[in-house]
Amino acid sequence: MTFLQRPLRLGFQWVEGWFDLIFGPAWNPFYNLGALGFFYFWIVAVSGVYVYILFDTGTTQAYDSVEYMTHEQWYLGGVMRSLHRYASDGMVLMMVVHMLREFSLDRYRGKRWFTWVTGVPIVWLTLAAGITGYWMVWDKLAQYVAIVSTEWLDWLPIFGEPIARNFLAPSILDDRFFTLLTFMHIAVPLVLVIVLWIHLQRVSRPKVNPARGLAVGTFAMLVVLSLFEPAESQGPADLATVPAVVGLDWFYLAAYPLLDIWTRGTVWALVSGLTLMLAVLPWIPPMRRTKSAEVDLDNCNGCERCADDCPYNAITMQPRTDALPFSQEAAVDPSLCVSCGICAGACPTSTPFRRASDLVPGIDLPDRSLVALRAELERKTQAPAGEVRVVVFGCDKGIATSGLEAQGIVALSLPCIAALPPSFIDFVLSRGLADGVFLTGCREGECFHRFGVAWTEDRLARRRDPYLRNRVPRERIEKFWAASPDRRQLDKAIVAFAARLKALPHRGGTVAAGAAIAQVAQQRAPNHG
Ligand code: HEM
Ligand code: SF4
Ligand code: SF4
Repeated sequence: MTFLQRPLRLGFQWVEGWFDLIFGPAWNPFYNLGALGFFYFWIVAVSGVYVYILFDTGTTQAYDSVEYMTHEQWYLGGVMRSLHRYASDGMVLMMVVHMLREFSLDRYRGKRWFTWVTGVPIVWLTLAAGITGYWMVWDKLAQYVAIVSTEWLDWLPIFGEPIARNFLAPSILDDRFFTLLTFMHIAVPLVLVIVLWIHLQRVSRPKVNPARGLAVGTFAMLVVLSLFEPAESQGPADLATVPAVVGLDWFYLAAYPLLDIWTRGTVWALVSGLTLMLAVLPWIPPMRRTKSAEVDLDNCNGCERCADDCPYNAITMQPRTDALPFSQEAAVDPSLCVSCGICAGACPTSTPFRRASDLVPGIDLPDRSLVALRAELERKTQAPAGEVRVVVFGCDKGIATSGLEAQGIVALSLPCIAALPPSFIDFVLSRGLADGVFLTGCREGECFHRFGVAWTEDRLARRRDPYLRNRVPRERIEKFWAASPDRRQLDKAIVAFAARLKALPHRGGTVAAGAAIAQVAQQRAPNHG
């Protein structure tokens, strides 16, 4: 799948970089796609209630009532109808882009399969809700949609009598059919809400509301569109004639032209095949298994920080099972744990100042333990450095740290940048292992483990436990959150940081190697020309 994911991800990162510049990360719509999907849904729901009040479910009255709200009450009914239409389109757009983005970022495989798989019925339900809506207007487009949809459904051997027969002549169609349709148009979105709720069951702290500025801007955009390009009907339906030309809403009805050129069976095969492929995608190919985090009860005091920081709801606090004088203990659910290590970064016992034999935190990854990280750090910082030495802590999902190493710069990679306990920064600087610490990881809003960057920022700024101690000199810490298109800027930021460190009073521990850091910039420059 990487052959599809990589170009898609690069495309997203390139566009997102521009949106970051224009809107800033907080208002970047690409970082709020799921939340915008919800926002549009609520606009659809509220405008839908108003439109329903004015709507009449009779076969002849339906069209007239929609015309009334569009033209006689354009200032409110018309705007509400247009908001209902455009927000529904917006929801489809957000859903598709959100799905493609999660796919490109690889945030759907392994133990994250559940959120993806529950997203698949959301696609169907959203489309079904929109299509039944088009039907209700009972204009020429509705007639086309009704006939094509029912003929398509009739291919399935589930209806006693073909439902397409209802549209053979005006005399056959009765009001009850519209009442049934109205019921479906309301029931499907209600089911959708339930499935959306299930969709988020394994996502901790899901972002369901967009940033306020983004919400206001998006809403204003929809209102302006509704005023200047109001949604209109396409002339009353007439079952005695076949509509010659209809304007399609491509967000909902893009597949309909296929039914004109292919057989119904072929379209069923295509749609079922695509749905099945989407549903099994998290296992193509299966993700490499990693060992889940493990709790060491002797070192766990039940403080809850790990459970609070875990982005996957994989940790629960349970009554104590040993004799230690604490009321609760952390317990990891291996079926949810993706081995991001964020819990180890959050645990107050994860401190490298303890002796090697004692560095057993309350929670840790067996394959990427903190004791191994400290050993690697000490080994890498033993060799003579330059005039200054920088330790770069990076993350497996961001820009590869191996490419960042150079004379005077040592780099270590963690599963996620928030797997780094802040005390490691203190350790590096207070023990004179380096003159500065540089942190890097995924771009803000693109973090593979969702909260890695946010938690790290909060810990450094002392907004979230475990705090970086006050004694740690902030001028010796730098950070840069980067995606692959930012590689050059990241290099530059490390070099600039090293140059700044040179101007600070020497901290001891590192030995001269002259202009090593300046050379790094020159060595790297031709590669990016
Ligand atoms: C309009 C429909 C949808 C809405 C409103 C929606 C909403 C959301 C929200 C709010 C999140 C949490 C984002 C966060 O806080 O990081 C999320 C995550 C996610 N959604 Fe959706 N979603 C929709 C459709 C879909 C579809 C169709 C798929 C795929 C088939 C999908 C796959 C995912 C995945 C893979 C995640 C990330 C889970 C993780 O990080 O572990 N979603 N969605
Ligand atoms: S953060 Fe550490 S000490 Fe606190 S509950 Fe989790 S494992 Fe136990
Ligand atoms: S490693 Fe990550 S997913 Fe697993 S329990 Fe710790 S924070 Fe949660």
